[in-house]
Amino acid sequence: MSIDKIFDVDRVTLRFGGVVSLNDVTLHQQRGEILAIIGPNGAGKTSLFNSLTGVYQPQEGSVTFCAQPGESFDVIGKKAHRVAKAGVARTFQASRMFSALTTFENIKIGAESHRGIGAVGAMLRGPGTRRDERKSDGKTIELLRFVGLEGQANTISSSLSYGDRRRLEIARALATEPQVLLLDEPAAGTNPSEKLALADLIRKVRDVMGVSILLIEHDMKLVMSLAERLYVLNFGSVIAEGTPDEIRANEAVISAYLGTTAEDA
Ligand SMILES: Nc1ncnc2c1ncn2[C@@H]1O[C@H](COP(=O)(O)OP(=O)(O)OP(=O)(O)O)[C@@H](O)[C@H]1O
Ligand SMILES: [Mg+2]
Repeated sequence: MSIDKIFDVDRVTLRFGGVVSLNDVTLHQQRGEILAIIGPNGAGKTSLFNSLTGVYQPQEGSVTFCAQPGESFDVIGKKAHRVAKAGVARTFQASRMFSALTTFENIKIGAESHRGIGAVGAMLRGPGTRRDERKSDGKTIELLRFVGLEGQANTISSSLSYGDRRRLEIARALATEPQVLLLDEPAAGTNPSEKLALADLIRKVRDVMGVSILLIEHDMKLVMSLAERLYVLNFGSVIAEGTPDEIRANEAVISAYLGTTAEDA
């Protein structure tokens, strides 16, 4: 039986002048999987995310996204907004919200950009736009509850705690109704209890919403507890693939990356 893959990355190479950011990378994600990408700084993790979302255009290889079983969408050559529309959502390593807006407004923008309600539509405010507005409001409230920010709806985003900001970013990405969610270091800057709560939220996104999760994370404890399978990148190449137990025991990974922390993870 063949695997139901949501992402199929085949022999992808990405170069910037003389720098090879991704070197002949082949990997896949099963539908419904919580999959992680780990590796040292500069290994190519964010470059991989950018190549999966239409931000970077690799020179070689192919990236196939299958929103539904049997469907396929070639990512390479497509613009980022088209890839997003096809069902790929992401959060960024450095926070990218509108910090002067409230939690509610930030999520609503995610919902509206997905529905294609532009500034002109909002100004004209025909009956269709009003209906869309109500839909966006309802969806925003639902997402606020889902991520546990209903009490912070009117808080200006820049005054949220790190943990809550990370939740807001996840909610905003989910507002586009994705099939897969790419999280680039979702726990960066958070404290240990916020990390545990974020891990629970990420699991809930998969379990309750059925959204596949692709995760970059440096915190070994967190990533090993959350991911069902991992790939390890080093200098742009995949050096290992396996379950958390297999990765912890992998000699190449230990020497390249985990070092003495392997036993602690
Ligand atoms: N737009 C770009 N222009 C030139 N070089 C780039 C560009 N983007 C990435 N690179 C290079 O690609 C390599 C991989 O970078 P990338 O950001 O993907 O690493 P990373 O694994 O995400 O690292 P970190 O853990 O620090 O976030 C680095 O050498 C980086 O300098
Ligand atoms: Mg990165």
